[in-house]
Amino acid sequence: MTEIIKIKDLKIHYPIRSGFFNRVTDHVLAVDGVDFIIEKGKTYGLVGESGSGKTTTGKAIVGLEKVTGGQILYEDQDVTKARNRKSIQYNKDVQMIFQDSMSSLNPKKRVLDIIAEPIRNFERLSDQEEKNKVKSLLDIVGMPEDAIYKYPHEFSGGQRQRLGVARAVATNPKLIVADEPVSALDLSVQAQVLNFMKNIQQEYGLSYLFISHDLGVVKHMCDNLAIMYKGRFVEIGTREDIYNNAQHIYTKRLLSAIPQIDVAHRNEHKAERRRVEKEYIEHQKDYYDQHGRVYDLQSISETHQVALKKGGDI
Ligand SMILES: Nc1ncnc2c1ncn2[C@@H]1O[C@H](COP(=O)(O)OP(=O)(O)O)[C@@H](O)[C@H]1O
Ligand SMILES: [Mg+2]
Repeated sequence: MTEIIKIKDLKIHYPIRSGFFNRVTDHVLAVDGVDFIIEKGKTYGLVGESGSGKTTTGKAIVGLEKVTGGQILYEDQDVTKARNRKSIQYNKDVQMIFQDSMSSLNPKKRVLDIIAEPIRNFERLSDQEEKNKVKSLLDIVGMPEDAIYKYPHEFSGGQRQRLGVARAVATNPKLIVADEPVSALDLSVQAQVLNFMKNIQQEYGLSYLFISHDLGVVKHMCDNLAIMYKGRFVEIGTREDIYNNAQHIYTKRLLSAIPQIDVAHRNEHKAERRRVEKEYIEHQKDYYDQHGRVYDLQSISETHQVALKKGGDI
């Protein structure tokens, strides 16, 4: 078995309350029936615009969001319910890194306590053992030992993201959900953080669910990807399938939105972007049903699935 986690028909609906009696009058379908598998040691990319349901999916996987429907299977065990997660150390094995390290790292705590916190939940270490452990974790993410006595605000954004990674790997996890881990960083710093995330992955055989709104950022990280829109997947496939053979108009639109550094082709790129935008506006009805809902995925090859109207062709 090579898969670490399997998500089956996952649904997360948030109630909307309104009126005098504050009754539930409707639901936000934040995640509305998605299926995917993350393989051991691999990186699965989850990409879509803001509001498409990426964070909600990630939080549901680590157990921070109540699931409305569907199933999460971790190494073949059902971990959809909190009580099942406890019995198999799931909360130790699966960790999350957040986009905004400024608010996800407690500003009043020293780095030592921030990074040691997840360890304290699962292991009893002496003060000295704990200190050594935290120092070795800092070393893994390229930070100096004396960082343990500092506070989050004393670091740059890139360094704080490294602390977030050190904290996430503290429990020796098998899967890390990384929610836009570099989106708040400058391009040059992004590359650094991505590189050591890759190094850590190779060293420890980690699996990642890598969330981003930018297909450019995840290109060199992901083995497989899902493109998400309005709580549904519009397209899933290997990196090859998505970057070289995108079929859904929404995927094409995200691809054309990747910033081009190449000055020589800037005008061509602009023209391509306009062409895709026009196609997107004109052909939306072929890609979404009358309620604007994304169609079910259809297989177009062994690895590649696209949300198309049944019997319709693109
Ligand atoms: N706690 C919540 N209550 C109600 N709606 C929510 C809540 N959290 C997220 N949403 C809504 O769910 C949708 C998906 O949000 P999110 O998963 O954060 O998207 P993304 O991470 O792709 O930007 C959005 O429409 C958002 O407004
Ligand atoms: Mg998000």
